[in-house]
Order: sequence, then C-alpha cells, then structure tokens
Amino acid sequence: MKKSIDIELLWHLDQIVLPFPVTIITTVDKEGRINAAPYSLVIPFCASPETPQILLSCNSHWHTPHNIEATGEFVVNYPGAELCREVAETGRFYPQGVNELEYAKLSVIPSNKVKPPRIKECREHLECRVAQTIRPSKTQITFVADIVDISIDEKFLNLSRDERIREMNLPVYFGPSKGGGSTFGIIDEYKVFSPDIKPDFEKK
Ligand SMILES: Cc1cc2nc3c(=O)[nH]c(=O)nc-3n(C[C@H](O)[C@H](O)[C@H](O)COP(=O)(O)O)c2cc1C
Repeated sequence: MKKSIDIELLWHLDQIVLPFPVTIITTVDKEGRINAAPYSLVIPFCASPETPQILLSCNSHWHTPHNIEATGEFVVNYPGAELCREVAETGRFYPQGVNELEYAKLSVIPSNKVKPPRIKECREHLECRVAQTIRPSKTQITFVADIVDISIDEKFLNLSRDERIREMNLPVYFGPSKGGGSTFGIIDEYKVFSPDIKPDFEKK
C-alpha cells in the first residue's frame, strides 16, 4: 500500500530518499578570491553536443550563488570517494572571501575557459557559464549553465566504461543528517543490470 505524505521544506533531501552526485563547486568573487563548497543538486540539463548544459540549484544565502551571479561562471569538480573528508571540510560555514580549499588541503589548477580554477585531486570537471537564472522560491536560486569545457583525468580515458565507473568510485549524497551533518559516501556494491538492452529505433 502507498501513502501520500504532506510535502515539507526540503522534501527531496529529507522526506524521500534520492541519490545525488557529490561535487565541489569552485567560483571566484569580483576580486578573484576563490570559494569552494559541496553541491549535489547538479543535474545534466541538455545532452546535445551543440548546447551541453547543467542545472545547479543553491540556497540563495550561500557564497557560491553570490559569486556566480557576480561573475557568471563556475566549475563543477567531481571527487572520488577517498575525498569525502575533504568535501565535508569545504562545506563548513567560513566567512565570505575565505578559500575553503586551503582548509581542505586541496590544490588548484587553472581552468581552460573560465576564471574559477579546477580542483587537481578531483577526477572530472565541467567549466560552466550561466545561460539562465531561475528563482523558484525566496530561498532558492537555480542556474542553467552552458558547459564550455569538460576535462577528465587522462588515466581514466583508456579504461572501458565499466572499469571507469568502478575506478572513479564517485560518492553519492542522500541529504542532511539529523545531527546537522550530511549523509554521503559510497554504495558498496556495484552491479550491471541488463547491459544488452538497446533502444528499438530501427523498428519505427
Ligand atoms: C555533499 C553535500 C551536498 C550539498 N549540496 C548542496 C546543494 O546542492 N545546494 C545547496 O544550496 N547546498 C548544498 N550543500 C550545502 C552547502 O555546501 C553548504 O551550505 C556550504 O557551506 C555552502 O558554502 P558556500 O556559502 O561557500 O557556497 C551541500 C552540502 C554537502 C555536504
């Protein structure tokens, strides 16, 4: 039997269980000072190679959306599960202008197309420029951004897709925990289901 529930604030993180990717978003402010913080509401929006786009949803109080509004740019960095501690460190509430990467002991490399840097220790990076800003509520700001560059650690490129998924070992986010922390980490079993299912385009 299914039961409808009353929808509360943060229904997607608190009331139902949904898996999200773990990323660290890097931005710079108008003065060029780096900011880094974990973001999981980061969802591919357009899959076309002509206009690849990503959607990023933020609480409008955080520094990340302030910097993105000021500069129009951000980088999505995907850490492996061995960096969960460092990810958590970048999630602390430091004052505006503080570079969380220094506290997390993570290093930066320049991006190819945008001012915010990439995080060296992460595995994949999306360099983004804002195309559209949406305010679905008073406390939420959502960016749809053009992806202007995608880079991946070279060592993963020669692996099969299956090996790459295992080797990248990307953690998953399940929302805030009751004690005030966050629930994220690796799912310890990886299985491939129905790998031979293909779309039936030919029949149409
Ligand atoms: C794994 C993880 C994922 C998070 N995802 C989001 C998110 O998608 N949107 C959001 O507004 N806050 C998210 N947060 C909370 C912010 O990272 C946190 O409030 C942070 O301090 C914001 O930093 P900033 O002010 O430097 O942007 C997440 C936290 C963690 C630990």
